[in-house]
Amino acid sequence: AKISVVGAGNVGATTVQRLAELELGEIVMTDIVEGLPQGKALDLMQAGAIKGYDTSIIGTNDYADIADSDLVIITAGIARKPGMTREDLIRTNSKIITEVSKNIAKYAPESIVINVTNPLDIITYVAMKSTGFETKKVFGMSGVLDSGRFASFIAEELKCSKKDVQAMVIGGHGDLMVPLPQYTTVSGIPLTDLLPHDKIARLVERTVNGGAEIVELLKQGSAFYAPSAAVVSMAEAVIKDSKRILPASAYLEGQYGQEGIYFGVPVKLGASGVEEILELELDESQYETLRKSSETIRNVISQLEI
Ligand code: NAI
Repeated sequence: AKISVVGAGNVGATTVQRLAELELGEIVMTDIVEGLPQGKALDLMQAGAIKGYDTSIIGTNDYADIADSDLVIITAGIARKPGMTREDLIRTNSKIITEVSKNIAKYAPESIVINVTNPLDIITYVAMKSTGFETKKVFGMSGVLDSGRFASFIAEELKCSKKDVQAMVIGGHGDLMVPLPQYTTVSGIPLTDLLPHDKIARLVERTVNGGAEIVELLKQGSAFYAPSAAVVSMAEAVIKDSKRILPASAYLEGQYGQEGIYFGVPVKLGASGVEEILELELDESQYETLRKSSETIRNVISQLEI
Protein backbone atom coordinates (compact mmCIF):
# COMPACT_ATOMS: atom_id res chain seq x y z
CA ALA A 1 0.00 0.00 0.00
CA LYS A 2 1.03 3.64 -0.40
CA ILE A 3 0.32 6.13 2.38
CA SER A 4 0.93 9.88 2.13
CA VAL A 5 1.12 12.24 5.07
CA VAL A 6 0.62 15.94 4.30
CA GLY A 7 2.37 18.13 6.88
CA ALA A 8 5.72 17.13 8.37
CA GLY A 9 5.27 18.87 11.71
CA ASN A 10 4.93 17.22 15.10
CA VAL A 11 1.83 15.16 14.35
CA GLY A 12 2.80 14.40 10.73
CA ALA A 13 6.36 13.23 11.37
CA THR A 14 5.39 11.17 14.43
CA THR A 15 2.62 9.57 12.38
CA VAL A 16 5.19 8.65 9.72
CA GLN A 17 7.46 7.15 12.38
CA ARG A 18 4.64 4.97 13.75
CA LEU A 19 3.50 3.92 10.25
CA ALA A 20 7.08 3.04 9.26
CA GLU A 21 7.55 0.86 12.32
CA LEU A 22 4.37 -1.05 11.43
CA GLU A 23 5.61 -1.64 7.84
CA LEU A 24 2.13 -0.98 6.46
CA GLY A 25 3.43 0.18 3.09
CA GLU A 26 5.55 2.85 1.38
CA ILE A 27 5.25 6.36 2.78
CA VAL A 28 5.42 9.84 1.26
CA MET A 29 5.62 12.88 3.58
CA THR A 30 5.02 16.36 2.17
CA ASP A 31 5.25 19.87 3.58
CA ILE A 32 5.38 23.41 2.31
CA VAL A 33 8.73 24.07 4.04
CA GLU A 34 11.64 23.13 1.79
CA GLY A 35 14.00 20.55 3.25
CA LEU A 36 11.83 19.74 6.27
CA PRO A 37 10.11 16.60 4.97
CA GLN A 38 13.29 15.53 3.15
CA GLY A 39 15.42 15.84 6.31
CA LYS A 40 12.91 14.06 8.53
CA ALA A 41 12.41 11.30 5.94
CA LEU A 42 16.16 10.67 5.82
CA ASP A 43 16.35 10.52 9.60
CA LEU A 44 13.38 8.11 9.74
CA MET A 45 14.88 5.91 6.98
CA GLN A 46 18.11 5.60 8.97
CA ALA A 47 16.13 4.70 12.10
CA GLY A 48 14.90 1.66 10.14
CA ALA A 49 18.40 0.17 10.17
CA ILE A 50 18.42 0.36 13.96
CA LYS A 51 14.78 -0.41 14.77
CA GLY A 52 14.55 -3.03 12.03
CA TYR A 53 12.08 -1.84 9.40
CA ASP A 54 12.48 -1.60 5.63
CA THR A 55 9.69 0.90 4.95
CA SER A 56 10.44 3.33 2.12
CA ILE A 57 9.94 6.96 3.25
CA ILE A 58 10.15 9.83 0.78
CA GLY A 59 10.15 13.48 1.88
CA THR A 60 9.00 16.00 -0.74
CA ASN A 61 7.54 19.45 -1.47
CA ASP A 62 5.93 18.21 -4.67
CA TYR A 63 2.35 16.91 -4.58
CA ALA A 64 3.01 14.83 -7.69
CA ASP A 65 4.85 12.40 -5.38
CA ILE A 66 1.62 11.43 -3.60
CA ALA A 67 0.36 9.95 -6.89
CA ASP A 68 -1.85 6.89 -6.51
CA SER A 69 -1.78 6.83 -2.72
CA ASP A 70 -4.28 4.45 -1.14
CA LEU A 71 -4.52 6.65 1.93
CA VAL A 72 -3.71 10.31 2.57
CA ILE A 73 -3.46 11.71 6.10
CA ILE A 74 -3.79 15.50 6.44
CA THR A 75 -1.85 17.14 9.30
CA ALA A 76 -0.90 20.43 7.60
CA GLY A 77 -1.89 23.74 9.04
CA ILE A 78 -1.07 26.33 11.60
CA ALA A 79 -1.77 26.42 15.30
CA ARG A 80 -3.56 29.36 16.85
CA LYS A 81 -1.05 32.10 17.64
CA PRO A 82 -1.43 34.76 20.34
CA GLY A 83 -3.82 37.46 19.17
CA MET A 84 -5.38 35.21 16.56
CA THR A 85 -9.12 34.63 16.84
CA ARG A 86 -10.76 31.25 16.33
CA GLU A 87 -12.28 32.67 13.14
CA ASP A 88 -8.83 33.66 11.79
CA LEU A 89 -7.61 30.12 12.45
CA ILE A 90 -10.59 28.60 10.67
CA ARG A 91 -10.07 30.87 7.67
CA THR A 92 -6.33 30.13 7.42
CA ASN A 93 -6.53 26.36 7.90
CA SER A 94 -9.52 26.03 5.63
CA LYS A 95 -7.57 27.84 2.88
CA ILE A 96 -4.59 25.50 3.41
CA ILE A 97 -6.76 22.39 3.40
CA THR A 98 -8.67 23.51 0.29
CA GLU A 99 -5.37 23.65 -1.58
CA VAL A 100 -4.17 20.34 -0.08
CA SER A 101 -7.47 18.67 -1.01
CA LYS A 102 -7.37 19.85 -4.61
CA ASN A 103 -3.96 18.24 -4.96
CA ILE A 104 -5.20 15.03 -3.36
CA ALA A 105 -8.09 14.94 -5.85
CA LYS A 106 -5.67 15.58 -8.72
CA TYR A 107 -2.94 13.08 -7.84
CA ALA A 108 -4.62 10.48 -5.63
CA PRO A 109 -8.25 10.42 -6.79
CA GLU A 110 -8.85 6.90 -5.46
CA SER A 111 -7.49 7.54 -1.98
CA ILE A 112 -9.16 7.45 1.42
CA VAL A 113 -8.54 10.69 3.35
CA ILE A 114 -8.15 11.01 7.11
CA ASN A 115 -8.02 14.57 8.36
CA VAL A 116 -6.29 15.57 11.60
CA THR A 117 -6.06 19.36 11.18
CA ASN A 118 -8.15 21.48 13.56
CA PRO A 119 -10.81 22.67 14.00
CA LEU A 120 -11.38 19.03 13.24
CA ASP A 121 -15.04 18.68 12.30
CA ILE A 122 -14.97 21.87 10.22
CA ILE A 123 -11.75 21.11 8.36
CA THR A 124 -12.88 17.54 7.64
CA TYR A 125 -15.97 19.00 5.97
CA VAL A 126 -13.74 21.36 3.94
CA ALA A 127 -11.60 18.38 2.86
CA MET A 128 -14.68 16.42 1.72
CA LYS A 129 -16.10 19.39 -0.21
CA SER A 130 -12.86 20.38 -1.90
CA THR A 131 -11.73 16.88 -2.84
CA GLY A 132 -15.24 16.22 -4.12
CA PHE A 133 -14.82 12.66 -2.83
CA GLU A 134 -17.67 10.47 -1.65
CA THR A 135 -18.44 11.33 1.97
CA LYS A 136 -17.51 7.89 3.30
CA LYS A 137 -13.97 8.27 1.90
CA VAL A 138 -13.21 11.40 3.94
CA PHE A 139 -13.31 11.41 7.74
CA GLY A 140 -11.53 12.87 10.73
CA MET A 141 -9.53 11.74 13.74
CA SER A 142 -11.02 12.89 17.04
CA GLY A 143 -12.78 10.25 19.11
CA VAL A 144 -9.93 7.71 19.07
CA LEU A 145 -7.72 10.31 20.76
CA ASP A 146 -10.41 11.51 23.17
CA SER A 147 -11.35 7.90 24.04
CA GLY A 148 -7.67 7.10 24.56
CA ARG A 149 -7.38 9.94 27.03
CA PHE A 150 -10.55 8.84 28.84
CA ALA A 151 -9.26 5.22 28.95
CA SER A 152 -5.90 6.35 30.28
CA PHE A 153 -7.52 8.33 33.12
CA ILE A 154 -9.82 5.38 33.93
CA ALA A 155 -6.88 2.94 34.12
CA GLU A 156 -5.02 5.35 36.37
CA GLU A 157 -8.03 5.65 38.68
CA LEU A 158 -8.61 1.86 38.81
CA LYS A 159 -4.86 1.12 38.95
CA CYS A 160 -5.38 -1.37 36.13
CA SER A 161 -3.89 -1.96 32.68
CA LYS A 162 -4.87 0.51 29.96
CA LYS A 163 -5.14 -2.44 27.58
CA ASP A 164 -8.35 -3.62 29.20
CA VAL A 165 -10.21 -0.30 28.99
CA GLN A 166 -12.60 0.25 26.08
CA ALA A 167 -13.84 3.82 26.17
CA MET A 168 -16.16 5.69 23.82
CA VAL A 169 -16.21 9.45 23.22
CA ILE A 170 -18.36 11.01 20.49
CA GLY A 171 -19.57 14.49 19.48
CA GLY A 172 -17.67 17.57 18.34
CA HIS A 173 -13.90 17.59 18.86
CA GLY A 174 -13.42 20.22 21.55
CA ASP A 175 -15.29 21.56 24.56
CA LEU A 176 -18.49 19.93 23.37
CA MET A 177 -17.24 16.34 23.05
CA VAL A 178 -19.47 13.73 24.65
CA PRO A 179 -17.73 10.97 26.65
CA LEU A 180 -20.08 8.01 27.06
CA PRO A 181 -19.47 6.26 30.42
CA GLN A 182 -22.48 3.99 29.80
CA TYR A 183 -20.70 2.56 26.73
CA THR A 184 -17.31 2.29 28.42
CA THR A 185 -16.13 -1.03 29.82
CA VAL A 186 -13.11 -2.66 31.44
CA SER A 187 -12.78 -6.22 30.12
CA GLY A 188 -16.52 -6.20 29.52
CA ILE A 189 -17.40 -4.86 32.97
CA PRO A 190 -19.40 -1.61 32.69
CA LEU A 191 -17.45 1.38 34.01
CA THR A 192 -20.59 2.42 35.85
CA ASP A 193 -20.29 -0.77 37.98
CA LEU A 194 -16.64 -0.05 38.80
CA LEU A 195 -16.62 3.62 39.80
CA PRO A 196 -19.08 5.90 41.59
CA HIS A 197 -20.87 8.59 39.63
CA ASP A 198 -18.86 11.55 40.99
CA LYS A 199 -15.51 9.89 40.18
CA ILE A 200 -16.66 9.19 36.62
CA ALA A 201 -17.82 12.80 36.28
CA ARG A 202 -14.34 14.02 37.25
CA LEU A 203 -12.65 11.74 34.68
CA VAL A 204 -15.11 12.94 32.05
CA GLU A 205 -14.24 16.55 32.83
CA ARG A 206 -10.50 15.86 32.63
CA THR A 207 -11.05 14.13 29.27
CA VAL A 208 -12.91 17.13 27.86
CA ASN A 209 -9.98 19.35 28.93
CA GLY A 210 -7.36 16.75 27.92
CA GLY A 211 -5.87 18.71 25.03
CA ALA A 212 -5.84 22.02 26.92
CA GLU A 213 -4.13 20.42 29.94
CA ILE A 214 -1.20 19.44 27.71
CA VAL A 215 -1.06 22.79 25.89
CA GLU A 216 -0.80 24.54 29.25
CA LEU A 217 2.08 22.35 30.39
CA LEU A 218 4.01 22.59 27.11
CA LYS A 219 3.71 26.38 26.85
CA GLN A 220 4.22 26.00 23.11
CA GLY A 221 2.78 23.54 20.64
CA SER A 222 0.28 20.82 21.45
CA ALA A 223 -0.04 17.06 21.90
CA PHE A 224 1.27 14.78 19.18
CA TYR A 225 2.27 11.38 20.62
CA ALA A 226 -1.28 10.27 21.41
CA PRO A 227 -2.75 12.04 18.36
CA SER A 228 -0.33 10.25 16.01
CA ALA A 229 -1.05 6.92 17.73
CA ALA A 230 -4.76 7.58 17.22
CA VAL A 231 -4.56 8.37 13.51
CA VAL A 232 -2.27 5.38 12.90
CA SER A 233 -4.80 2.99 14.48
CA MET A 234 -7.38 4.36 12.04
CA ALA A 235 -4.95 4.11 9.11
CA GLU A 236 -4.18 0.50 10.01
CA ALA A 237 -7.91 -0.35 10.03
CA VAL A 238 -8.22 1.09 6.50
CA ILE A 239 -5.09 -0.52 5.06
CA LYS A 240 -5.84 -3.94 6.60
CA ASP A 241 -9.60 -3.61 5.93
CA SER A 242 -10.11 -4.76 9.49
CA LYS A 243 -13.63 -3.31 10.01
CA ARG A 244 -12.73 -1.90 13.40
CA ILE A 245 -15.45 -0.09 15.32
CA LEU A 246 -13.93 3.23 16.33
CA PRO A 247 -15.21 6.74 16.89
CA ALA A 248 -14.45 9.10 13.99
CA SER A 249 -15.67 12.41 12.64
CA ALA A 250 -18.03 11.18 9.90
CA TYR A 251 -20.53 12.79 7.56
CA LEU A 252 -24.02 12.46 8.96
CA GLU A 253 -27.11 11.92 6.86
CA GLY A 254 -29.85 11.80 9.45
CA GLN A 255 -28.03 9.79 12.13
CA TYR A 256 -28.22 11.34 15.60
CA GLY A 257 -30.80 13.73 14.16
CA GLN A 258 -28.11 15.50 12.09
CA GLU A 259 -27.67 16.06 8.42
CA GLY A 260 -24.94 17.60 6.25
CA ILE A 261 -22.23 18.04 8.90
CA TYR A 262 -19.32 16.10 10.33
CA PHE A 263 -18.97 15.13 13.97
CA GLY A 264 -17.74 12.23 16.05
CA VAL A 265 -19.76 9.00 16.01
CA PRO A 266 -18.91 5.30 16.25
CA VAL A 267 -18.17 3.94 12.78
CA LYS A 268 -16.99 0.75 11.12
CA LEU A 269 -13.67 1.44 9.35
CA GLY A 270 -12.44 -0.62 6.43
CA ALA A 271 -10.77 -0.36 3.04
CA SER A 272 -13.58 1.78 1.61
CA GLY A 273 -13.52 4.19 4.55
CA VAL A 274 -16.53 4.68 6.81
CA GLU A 275 -18.51 1.53 6.00
CA GLU A 276 -21.22 2.06 8.58
CA ILE A 277 -22.30 4.57 11.21
CA LEU A 278 -23.52 3.06 14.47
CA GLU A 279 -26.34 4.81 16.29
CA LEU A 280 -26.43 4.60 20.07
CA GLU A 281 -29.14 5.53 22.55
CA LEU A 282 -27.98 8.51 24.61
CA ASP A 283 -29.06 10.30 27.78
CA GLU A 284 -31.07 13.48 27.35
CA SER A 285 -28.13 15.64 28.52
CA GLN A 286 -25.80 13.90 26.07
CA TYR A 287 -28.26 14.57 23.21
CA GLU A 288 -28.40 18.18 24.37
CA THR A 289 -24.59 18.55 24.13
CA LEU A 290 -24.62 16.91 20.69
CA ARG A 291 -27.28 19.38 19.56
CA LYS A 292 -25.23 22.30 20.87
CA SER A 293 -22.03 21.15 19.18
CA SER A 294 -23.80 20.44 15.90
CA GLU A 295 -25.30 23.93 15.97
CA THR A 296 -21.86 25.48 16.43
CA ILE A 297 -20.40 23.39 13.61
CA ARG A 298 -23.34 24.21 11.32
CA ASN A 299 -22.94 27.95 11.97
CA VAL A 300 -19.27 27.92 11.07
CA ILE A 301 -19.83 25.80 7.95
CA SER A 302 -22.54 28.15 6.69
CA GLN A 303 -20.04 31.02 6.78
CA LEU A 304 -17.25 29.18 4.96
CA GLU A 305 -16.40 30.17 1.43
CA ILE A 306 -15.70 26.84 -0.24
P1 NAI B 1 2.99 21.63 13.45
O1 NAI B 1 2.99 23.12 13.42
O2 NAI B 1 4.05 20.91 14.18
O3 NAI B 1 2.95 21.07 11.95
C1 NAI B 1 2.15 21.60 10.94
C2 NAI B 1 2.92 21.46 9.63
O4 NAI B 1 2.07 21.87 8.56
C3 NAI B 1 4.18 22.35 9.56
O5 NAI B 1 5.33 21.57 9.29
C4 NAI B 1 3.88 23.32 8.42
O6 NAI B 1 5.01 23.68 7.67
C5 NAI B 1 2.90 22.50 7.58
N1 NAI B 1 2.11 23.32 6.67
C6 NAI B 1 1.59 24.55 6.85
N2 NAI B 1 0.97 24.97 5.74
C7 NAI B 1 1.09 23.98 4.83
C8 NAI B 1 0.66 23.81 3.48
N3 NAI B 1 -0.03 24.79 2.86
N4 NAI B 1 0.95 22.67 2.85
C9 NAI B 1 1.65 21.70 3.47
N5 NAI B 1 2.09 21.79 4.73
C10 NAI B 1 1.82 22.93 5.40
O7 NAI B 1 1.55 21.25 14.04
P2 NAI B 1 1.11 19.83 14.66
O8 NAI B 1 1.31 19.84 16.11
O9 NAI B 1 1.72 18.75 13.84
O10 NAI B 1 -0.46 19.87 14.39
C11 NAI B 1 -0.97 19.80 13.07
C12 NAI B 1 -2.49 19.99 13.07
O11 NAI B 1 -3.11 18.90 13.74
C13 NAI B 1 -2.97 21.25 13.79
O12 NAI B 1 -4.06 21.82 13.09
C14 NAI B 1 -3.43 20.72 15.13
O13 NAI B 1 -4.39 21.55 15.75
C15 NAI B 1 -4.03 19.40 14.70
N6 NAI B 1 -4.19 18.40 15.76
C16 NAI B 1 -5.37 17.71 15.78
C17 NAI B 1 -5.61 16.73 16.72
C18 NAI B 1 -6.90 15.99 16.69
O14 NAI B 1 -7.26 15.39 17.68
N7 NAI B 1 -7.61 15.96 15.58
C19 NAI B 1 -4.61 16.43 17.76
C20 NAI B 1 -3.37 17.15 17.61
C21 NAI B 1 -3.19 18.12 16.64
